[in-house]
Amino acid sequence: MNRLIIIGASGHGKVVADIAIKKGYTDIVFLDDDASLKECAGYPIVGKTTDAKDMFGDKIVAIGNADIRCEFQNQLDNIISLIHPAAVISRRVHIGKGTVVMAGAIINSDTLIGDGCIINTGATVDHDCMIHNYVHVSVGAHVAGTCEIGNRTWVGAGSVISNNVNICNDCMIGAGAVVVSDLVKSGTYIGVPVKRVR
Ligand SMILES: CC(C)(COP(=O)(O)OP(=O)(O)OC[C@H]1O[C@@H](n2cnc3c(N)ncnc32)[C@H](O)[C@@H]1OP(=O)(O)O)[C@@H](O)C(=O)NCCC(=O)NCCS
Repeated sequence: MNRLIIIGASGHGKVVADIAIKKGYTDIVFLDDDASLKECAGYPIVGKTTDAKDMFGDKIVAIGNADIRCEFQNQLDNIISLIHPAAVISRRVHIGKGTVVMAGAIINSDTLIGDGCIINTGATVDHDCMIHNYVHVSVGAHVAGTCEIGNRTWVGAGSVISNNVNICNDCMIGAGAVVVSDLVKSGTYIGVPVKRVR
């Protein structure tokens, strides 16, 4: 099967489409609820997101919001994961369904990556980490060894999570932030080292 249906005609979706081409998909289409959009990165938008469940083909949800990504993914069959050929991933890594790993990302040994995650361009996740479902490790962010990151947490661009740190569910770690100790309360954290701002 070489049809891929990408749900969400976003900038993120464009990058997902680029990976899909490299992985051999020849028929790429998008679904999006913005009726004014006709194409995304040169690929046609053929319907609304609700059409996905009735369509035949592999599927991936390219929506940045973790709650929405989760909601769509849970309703759909044939969800695939995509790994850019220029990502470096240890053979002792498990990657869940619906997860995308972008170019230049590195994931080291004995790390688990859950379902629906985004390991974005140039991000690294080191050894023995547990990255739960729908986590986004943004472009250029670094997660050091033996960290645990809870469901739906968003690790901002260029941020650093020091080794042996646990971060709970539903945190937003701001761009450029540095986390050096456990975060046990959901919320938004910024700065070096991070402070909770809401
Ligand atoms: C942390 C974040 C979520 C806050 O967003 P927000 O609630 O819209 O905040 P605002 O932009 O209104 O900024 C509020 C204040 O926090 C400061 N601030 C915002 N983000 C900050 C950050 N990452 N680090 C330090 N300070 C930050 C702003 O300068 C502003 O300060 P001021 O009140 O003194 O002017 C957001 O700025 C951020 O970092 N998002 C991550 C984006 C990202 O990594 N994208 C990756 C895509 S792959």
